[in-house]
Amino acid sequence: MHGTKPFRAGLEDVIVAETALSLVDGEGGRLVVRGFAIEELAALRFEDICGLLWDGALPGPARWEAIRRGLAEGRVEAHAALARCSAVLDGEDAMEALRAGIASLHAQGEAPFRTGCRLAGAIAVFLAAWQRGRLGLAPVAPDPTRAHADDLLRLLSGSAAPAPIVRGLDSYLVTIAEHGMSASTFTARVVASTRSDAVSACVAALGSLKGPLHGGAPGPVLDMLDAIGSEANATRWLRGELAAGRRIMGLGHRVYRVRDPRAFVLERALAALESEGVASRYLGLARAVEGAAVEVLDAHRPERKLRTNVEFYTAVLLDVLGIPRALFTPVFAAGRCAGWLAHIAEERAVDRLIRPRQRYVGPLPPSFESGSARVAAG
Ligand code: COA
Repeated sequence: MHGTKPFRAGLEDVIVAETALSLVDGEGGRLVVRGFAIEELAALRFEDICGLLWDGALPGPARWEAIRRGLAEGRVEAHAALARCSAVLDGEDAMEALRAGIASLHAQGEAPFRTGCRLAGAIAVFLAAWQRGRLGLAPVAPDPTRAHADDLLRLLSGSAAPAPIVRGLDSYLVTIAEHGMSASTFTARVVASTRSDAVSACVAALGSLKGPLHGGAPGPVLDMLDAIGSEANATRWLRGELAAGRRIMGLGHRVYRVRDPRAFVLERALAALESEGVASRYLGLARAVEGAAVEVLDAHRPERKLRTNVEFYTAVLLDVLGIPRALFTPVFAAGRCAGWLAHIAEERAVDRLIRPRQRYVGPLPPSFESGSARVAAG
C-alpha cells in the first residue's frame, strides 16, 4: 500500500530513469559520458559533445561541420528574433531574461538535432544580448563561419577572443554538458514525458537551473572569494557562515561523496590557461579556500563528506574567460542544454508519463473513518 511505503524528501537514491547518456559515480568520483571519462572529453569542442550526446558517437569531420553549421543557423535565427523579444530580454536578472527569451521561441515538432541547435543558438545570442543591453551596447550579429564557443565570446565582447580563451570556454561547455539526473535534467524529462515540446521542457529546466542549490551557485562562489579576501581570513569567515546557518557555495553534492571529477577538469583547464599566460586573479585564493572549507566542513559534519563540486572552479574559470558573474548561470545553460536535449529525446522514446505518488498528511473529513489509505494512494 502506498501509504506505508518509506518516504525520503528530495527523491534521494530513487532511480527515475534508465539512461545511456551518463554515469555519475558518487563514491568513486567518476563521470562517464556515453562511454568516455569526462577527463578524455575536456579538450574537445562544444560541437563534439553535441554530436556525442545527440547522435551517440563523437562526430567525424563531416558531421562535426554539419553540427557547427546547425548551431550557427540557430544563432542567426535567434539574432533575427531579437527585435521581437528585446523587451523580454530587458530584465534585471539574466536568468529571468533568458527564460523569457527562450519561452518566446515557437515550439516546432522537429528532430532533436534541429531543436538542439535552435535552443543552443538562442541561449548564446540571448545571454550576450542581455549583457550588451546592460552596458548600453547593441547586439552583435552572429558570424556563421565560426564555431559555437568562439562566436559566443564574440557575441559578448564584439571582437574575436584569443584562442586559449575559446579553448577554455569549450572545455567548460563540454565538461558541464551532461550530468545524469540533475534537477534541471529531471525537470526537462518530466515535461517531455507529457509529450509536450522541447522548448517547453527547456524553459522548465531553466527555471530549475536558476536556483542556488543547482546552477545558481558560481556567482555566489566569487562573492564568497571576494568576501574572504585573503587566505588568512578563510577559516574564520567560513566558520562564521556555518555558525549563521548558511551553506558554503561550491561545496557539497547530492551524489558525490568525494571531490567532483569536474572540479579536477576545470582546475586543469585553469592551469592550462595559466601556462599560456592567462592567469586567474582568484585561482590561488580559491585553492586555499577549498582546503580551508573542506577542513571546516569536516569538523561541522564529520559523517557527511562535503567536498568541492563543479561550481567552485566554474566561478574561477568563467571569471578568467572574461564572463561577468551575472552570466555564470546562463553560460551553464549554454552547455547543459546539449544534455537536456539528449534526455528529452531519451524520455520521448520511453513515452511513459512521469507521475509519482504522494503521501497525504492533511486532515480527513469526519466521514472518512478508515479512508486514509485510499487518500494516501491518490
Ligand atoms: N555548506 C554547509 N552545509 C552543507 C553544505 C554546504 N555546502 N552542503 C550540505 N550541507 C549540509 C546540509 O545543510 C545538511 O545539513 P542538515 O542535515 O543539517 O540539513 C547536510 O550537510 C547534508 O547535506 P547533503 O544531504 O549532503 O546535501 P544535499 O544533497 O541535500 O544538498 C547541495 C546538495 C549541493 C544542494 C548542497 O551540498 C549545497 O547546498 N551546496 C551548496 C550549493 C552548491 O554548491 N550548489 C551546486 C551544486 S553542483
